[in-house]
Amino acid sequence: MLIPRAEIARRIGDLGVEIARDLERLGPDEEVEIVAILTGSFMFLADLIRRLPGPLRVRMVAVSSYPGRATKPRPAEILSRLPDDVAGRHVIVIDDILDSGQTLRLIRAELARRRPKSIRACVLLRKRRSAAMAEPCEYVGFDIPDEFVVGYGLDFDDLYRNLPDICTLRSPAP
Ligand code: IMP
Ligand code: MG
Repeated sequence: MLIPRAEIARRIGDLGVEIARDLERLGPDEEVEIVAILTGSFMFLADLIRRLPGPLRVRMVAVSSYPGRATKPRPAEILSRLPDDVAGRHVIVIDDILDSGQTLRLIRAELARRRPKSIRACVLLRKRRSAAMAEPCEYVGFDIPDEFVVGYGLDFDDLYRNLPDICTLRSPAP
């Protein structure tokens, strides 16, 4: 076990305070849109947005980078339509984990073409590897070792998403 559930909950509370404070600074008439990257972020999304002040829109986008039993990323592919109506809104992209950075880079580039007022990214986990640390990301829950992790929404071959704690996958099947 890498991060027990109580520690996850505590950190999400702090992240919520930090993001809520930044949102309140935007002023009352600004529109905020959360764009969550599925599937891994669903649990984090559910816990985090309940800490944020409304009203805000929540959208979900499916992106695939670790198909099936892969523990090494493939080129990220957007599997569903990105929201077309983010122009003039502040967008916060939410993902479970920042690894190679290609998912966030792709989503940011695609969203930027739709002319939002701002784009910020929030990830629960960031791997301590140069590609991840070099990728701009405004909110990070935990920096973790460069290992494959599962639980709290993160999967290996769609398994283990239901684990309440974040755990290291010791020996992935070949
Ligand atoms: P990136 O595009 O390489 O930054 O990878 C981001 C995506 O890959 C995340 O949204 C996860 O879905 C997946 N991913 C990366 N590392 C892990 C891991 O250790 N466990 C489970 N999924 C991972
Ligand atoms: Mg993902």
